[in-house]
Amino acid sequence: MSTDILLFGGTGDLALRKLYPAFYYLKLNGVLPADIKIVGVARRANTQEGFLATVKEWMIQHTGSLYDDEVFNEFGKCLTFAQGDSTEAEELRRISDEHFRADGQLIVYFSVPPSIFGGICTALEEGGLIKPNTRVVVEKPLGNDCASFMAINEEMRRVFNENQVYRIDHYLGKESVQNLLALRFANDIFQPIWNGRYIDHIQITVSESVGCGNRRDFYEETGAIRDMVQNHLLQVLCLTCIEPPASLDAESVRTEKLKILKCLRPITTENVAELTVRGQYAAGEVDGEQVPGYNEEGDGTPGMAETYVAIKAEVESFRWSGTPIYLRTGKRLNARHAEIVITFKQNRARLFADQASDKCANQLVINLQPDEGIKIHMKNKQAGLDERMPLENRFMDLSFSDNARAKKHDAYTRLLYDVIRGDQTLFVSEREIEAAWKWVDAIRAGWAERDQKPCQYTAGSTGPSDADEFMAADGRSWNNF
Ligand code: BG6
Repeated sequence: MSTDILLFGGTGDLALRKLYPAFYYLKLNGVLPADIKIVGVARRANTQEGFLATVKEWMIQHTGSLYDDEVFNEFGKCLTFAQGDSTEAEELRRISDEHFRADGQLIVYFSVPPSIFGGICTALEEGGLIKPNTRVVVEKPLGNDCASFMAINEEMRRVFNENQVYRIDHYLGKESVQNLLALRFANDIFQPIWNGRYIDHIQITVSESVGCGNRRDFYEETGAIRDMVQNHLLQVLCLTCIEPPASLDAESVRTEKLKILKCLRPITTENVAELTVRGQYAAGEVDGEQVPGYNEEGDGTPGMAETYVAIKAEVESFRWSGTPIYLRTGKRLNARHAEIVITFKQNRARLFADQASDKCANQLVINLQPDEGIKIHMKNKQAGLDERMPLENRFMDLSFSDNARAKKHDAYTRLLYDVIRGDQTLFVSEREIEAAWKWVDAIRAGWAERDQKPCQYTAGSTGPSDADEFMAADGRSWNNF
């Protein structure tokens, strides 16, 4: 069956930076359907030549050494520009009649603000573009709390079934995040020990060195908890903690993730101060350059949003209850780095001199980005004649950088490929998003009620000192890199 793609926001930032390059990578990998048609829609007039020239310019910039003029020219043949208002049924009917095939499957990508999702859905319906096999792709921000998400979702669900809606969380498109399923369920050695009986605690960190810059207004609306935790960090937490799914199909995987979200211990006004830290970056130095603080990036009004958040979460399930899962993410930190650290419980027997020290615990460190890899920290006898048999920390290192070099795609490529193939496994269900929002909403309500404001941290540091104290209070420390 032929595939037609209708891309609203067809000359916008996301389309140019991520979506056209992702389709191009599919072409480069030889898996873009030969008869695909991609129609980029925008309100502002443009010519086909002008449109292609812009796409090419961004493509060269964003695909780097993977840019190939010959492949691009071939790819360009399936791209078409169409001027139109995405909320006008007659305009959509015209575009459809002009470009799409009656017997094909249509995929509609909403790369536009959610405030017009409802209007687009109505126009698609009235314009006669929705068929049972039509798919729709959306991505965050899907609301700024549970109620607004439900309202947006309702507008979409009025015309689409849940199995037609593909909600992107680009973290699920990352190889390293998908590899969590392989690591956990294809390596039997972990089965008996992947639980609170053997694991002391888990840390999930997504650290960024970039600041908010010209996205400061957006950040004032969202803050790190809504921008990063509600989606990316909670999805990583889910894949780290889920029970083995019955199969890798969408229903099985999403059902297991939902169970984890529903088991998250609520954080409310009563415990929010003890279980969370909010931070905001002040001026500092990142990668050898002086950078302004969050407040200096705005119009002079003091910013209210957190650019850093640390949370002590807990999944109150049979497998995990009592095991802390520390989440942290922040902008303008010392490095761009994302990882999961699993620290195993330690045997306190004093067979070896150093064994009782906290530094002795075995750790499994899963690097998500920029370098993908897995390290297992082990204890080893120090070579020599010392009769106390001192130990040293060594690690077994599985680096996937070779995989990365061979890779000719990014997270969006994988996700768009799955939309074309009709596989929803790596997309987030409405019930997961609802559960994630409920958990985050309660934290935000707690902050508001307690008037818990962000504390300052120096740009280029590892975060606020409050976050270190928060860990120290549990007798633990962050894994810094
Ligand atoms: C986006 C956030 O969803 O994810 C950004 O809105 C953040 O603020 C980005 O910078 C991080 O994605 P990645 O893939 O660079 O880790």
